[in-house]
Amino acid sequence: MNNKFFPSKIAGIGKGMPQTVIKNSDLEKIVDTNDEWIATRSGIKERRVVSSEETGTSLAVKASREALAGINPEEIDLVICATSMPDNLYPSTACEIQRELKCSKAAAFDITAACSGLVYGLNIARSFIASGTYKNILLASVDVHSRFINWEDRSTCVLFGDGAGAMVITRSEDEQNDILYVEMEADGVKGEELKIPLSGKNCPLVSPNTLKDSYVYMNGREIYKFAVNTVPESIKKAVNKVGVSLEEVDCFILHQANVRIIESIADRLGVDREKFFINLHKYGNTSAASIVIAMTEAVEEGFIKSPSLLVLSGFGAGLTWGTAVVRWNPQ
Ligand code: ACO
Repeated sequence: MNNKFFPSKIAGIGKGMPQTVIKNSDLEKIVDTNDEWIATRSGIKERRVVSSEETGTSLAVKASREALAGINPEEIDLVICATSMPDNLYPSTACEIQRELKCSKAAAFDITAACSGLVYGLNIARSFIASGTYKNILLASVDVHSRFINWEDRSTCVLFGDGAGAMVITRSEDEQNDILYVEMEADGVKGEELKIPLSGKNCPLVSPNTLKDSYVYMNGREIYKFAVNTVPESIKKAVNKVGVSLEEVDCFILHQANVRIIESIADRLGVDREKFFINLHKYGNTSAASIVIAMTEAVEEGFIKSPSLLVLSGFGAGLTWGTAVVRWNPQ
């Protein structure tokens, strides 16, 4: 039996953002809200939304092109797309990305883990590489919340935005394993606290089902408590597993849902808030995409230096959560 474990690394990252910017002051025109309330409660100042020419796929393709920089799409063995708001229920967004980028040798599928999608996807990619099944994997993450928001509901419409991110994960040629550990967890019992129900109709020959509109429902207080209680434990578990201390982590990239959640997690961990990169003021909560968008900008801005030890942590609907410990050391 072959027990060889193949190491993996993140070879490229990128982001794909819609062009249209919606400021908090714009939302004041459609719901009873104001910039002060939104900024104080969430940290968000503006977000991006897709227009009719843009789709989740087009954003994900843009992000993937950036992440692929220099890598031939023909060499990609697998395309994974983390999304909870695909353009179509089928074909998968991953298949659409595979078509657009001409990754003609790649298998392709979507995963649904909401705002934990990137971390879940990273674990899947790492496992395929570790087993020797694949060498090069494109992991895209995209969510288009603007099409699933009730724009008359001020409690949710101010919080979300659209966007995409992508990572290329490859077998590490220098035999150094850079994706050090990924832990994933879920609690389906609390699934009703954050939900987008699917709309549709039964066959006319059976009794009709009363289906709800496909809009975001969120119990904000419960989700806040869930995040600040579970994420610190998840981060501690992951760094312990790797055998490093929290002090040794150079930078924390958390799901960008709410600045108060991130600050509370930093405080509960006893880690300096300055180590947590934040860009949610520009994009709102972009769900599965937020971690890669943040990581891409953190690298561009020099917040993440190479080499660095990073913690990536996601949490969201499902409920799901998880943490990856990664060495960022691109060649
Ligand atoms: N503008 C003005 N007032 C508002 C708005 C708004 N946009 N939304 C709600 N309010 C009002 C409410 O009606 C309420 O008024 P009342 O006191 O007269 O009843 C008051 O503000 C307080 O509302 P709460 O919901 O209690 O406000 P809270 O302090 O809990 O903040 C928030 C709400 C920001 C949603 C908070 O609960 C939170 O951050 N939760 C976590 C949400 C989150 O991060 N979700 C994403 C993670 S999962 C994922 O990414 C999919």
